[in-house]
Amino acid sequence: MEHLQLDWNNLGFNYMKTDVRYISHWRNGKWHESYLTEDNHLHISEGSTALHYGQQCFEGMKAYRCKDGSINLFRPDQNAARMQHSCARLLMPMVSTAQFIDACKQVVKANERFLPPYGTGSSLYLRPFVIGVGDNIGLCSAPEFIFCVFCIPVGGLFKGRLKPSNFFISDYDRAAPNGTGAAKVGGNYAASLLPGSEARAFGFADCIYLDPMTHGKIEEVGSANFFAISNYNTFVTPRSPSILPGITRASLIELAQSRLGLNAVEEDVYIENLGNYKEAGACGTAAVITPIGGIYYKDRLHVFHSENEAGPLTQLLFNELTGIQNGDIEAPAGWIEKV
Ligand code: PLP
Ligand code: COI
Repeated sequence: MEHLQLDWNNLGFNYMKTDVRYISHWRNGKWHESYLTEDNHLHISEGSTALHYGQQCFEGMKAYRCKDGSINLFRPDQNAARMQHSCARLLMPMVSTAQFIDACKQVVKANERFLPPYGTGSSLYLRPFVIGVGDNIGLCSAPEFIFCVFCIPVGGLFKGRLKPSNFFISDYDRAAPNGTGAAKVGGNYAASLLPGSEARAFGFADCIYLDPMTHGKIEEVGSANFFAISNYNTFVTPRSPSILPGITRASLIELAQSRLGLNAVEEDVYIENLGNYKEAGACGTAAVITPIGGIYYKDRLHVFHSENEAGPLTQLLFNELTGIQNGDIEAPAGWIEKV
């Protein structure tokens, strides 16, 4: 394998064309013609529903190089299940868990030279997606679909390894109470572009959305879930039908309980009660665990543990999660799929 000269320790989260991507077409009631291609452009009809009506969904997951040279996928069955939910919500055909995982493995293997080395803190980000394509203009489901998986080597989404970031409470909603917030569909992210850019213009990493019904409770970040550690050492993350059910978040609930011996609950986090929490963080595949230094709300910055360093329980959670992903710490049964 040819060795790439990339700055593996400082990658950030940027598009890069890697060698090949996986493509499968859905036509006449089934998925077929799966292949790997070097072409990173899709040639689709101007009438494609993905272009006009947002009929598309995507996933985000990572492959990690372990110390022994093997390659880990972290809970890919959970990403497959979430994509099936997203497809069902947008009236698209589902990709089976077996096909999803097989596609991801093929893409990792064929792009192995882009897989960051062990110990760099970087990983290979996989972006599976399904789009509605084909000639159409009426507001109805597409006649055909494409399932694609591509990959890029990435480092941190925010400042990087356990550096706290400040977040801004948005006046906008990203999703409606009975809308598509729990599905990983492009429309949610299009809706978050303007609020996110405004937050960044004010020097914040991103914004945090409140619940669309009462605007009194924290929901999530535009690209990650929210968690906090209460003053009584409970791991807390919001329960809401309009947040994305994150796989990192679900994993942290389990690890907080089983490995750190903490209570872990899904419950309302009231924006007026931030003083009840001594640490906070954003968690997700791309965000990993990003400590939240402070939250800006009503003209003041509420600082949790510190604006400069992660709190002690956030650090322990980070070590446990990334240790499992990198293969250094034994994973709970079924969490790691070897490529
Ligand atoms: N919430 C949003 C809006 C996201 O985009 C993501 C990232 O995928 C998450 C939460 C975290 O989900 P996961 O941990 O499955 O990556
Ligand atoms: C992920 O963490 O996989 C995401 O989808 C985040 C992305 C929107 C930047």
